[in-house]
Amino acid sequence: MIRKWLEQLLRRNQHPIAPTRTATRHTPDEIRAQDTANTSNGPQVLLRPFQIRPMDSGDLGELLGVFRQAIQVSAADQYDQQQRDAWSRAQSHESLISALSEGEAVVAEWDNVLVGFAHRINDYINMLFVHPNAGREGIATLLYQHLEDGARMEGITELAAHVSLTAHGFFHFMGFTSEGQEEAERNGVSLARYPMRKPLI
Ligand SMILES: CC(C)(COP(=O)(O)OP(=O)(O)OC[C@H]1O[C@@H](n2cnc3c(N)ncnc32)[C@H](O)[C@@H]1OP(=O)(O)O)[C@@H](O)C(=O)NCCC(=O)NCCS
Repeated sequence: MIRKWLEQLLRRNQHPIAPTRTATRHTPDEIRAQDTANTSNGPQVLLRPFQIRPMDSGDLGELLGVFRQAIQVSAADQYDQQQRDAWSRAQSHESLISALSEGEAVVAEWDNVLVGFAHRINDYINMLFVHPNAGREGIATLLYQHLEDGARMEGITELAAHVSLTAHGFFHFMGFTSEGQEEAERNGVSLARYPMRKPLI
């Protein structure tokens, strides 16, 4: 799916690009790069529409959709329908707003479509979800790396997470080790997960 978006972009970007709604959040270097891209039609034009940026309140509607799709589709091989329903119902708009109001939350946006988000509270990776249509494109890697960089800058020396069976391979790839499987409860339904840790020093 994401490759299809990219193909559309490659076609569309033969013409000048309209400013995105997030343009004001870019760093000066990014803005300079965009200016160059907009005037030169060079390769940067093609790269511009993907970004990792801080979450804002306007994202919340899309976040819940990504959260539910990631669970219902990407986790289908590891959890049955009852478990996926219980897990995806564990967050509402209100609980997401409350959960994301503290700590650091970042989103991945591809051509103005929100395709993933991640959230850290102090030394704890609290959420990481990527839309199934954008899976295995390195988006979780970029989101996670942003959170890890933030933690390092705060002087945090170890990160922890409770990781789904679906995400275990990803967190292992990122350098986390597991401390054995455990069961968590969501809406009265049991779901297996891994407590995992990664030293940052
Ligand atoms: C887990 C998840 C966030 C990964 O997102 P993603 O953007 O597809 O991950 P990336 O493309 O950055 O993956 C990087 C590497 O991690 C590993 N990895 C990712 N998903 C994996 C999987 N399902 N099984 C095994 N390894 C996996 C691979 O080594 C991958 O590199 P490769 O694609 O070159 O083989 C996503 O599948 C998801 O949202 N899952 C459902 C929700 C969930 O479980 N969230 C975590 C809650 S703790």
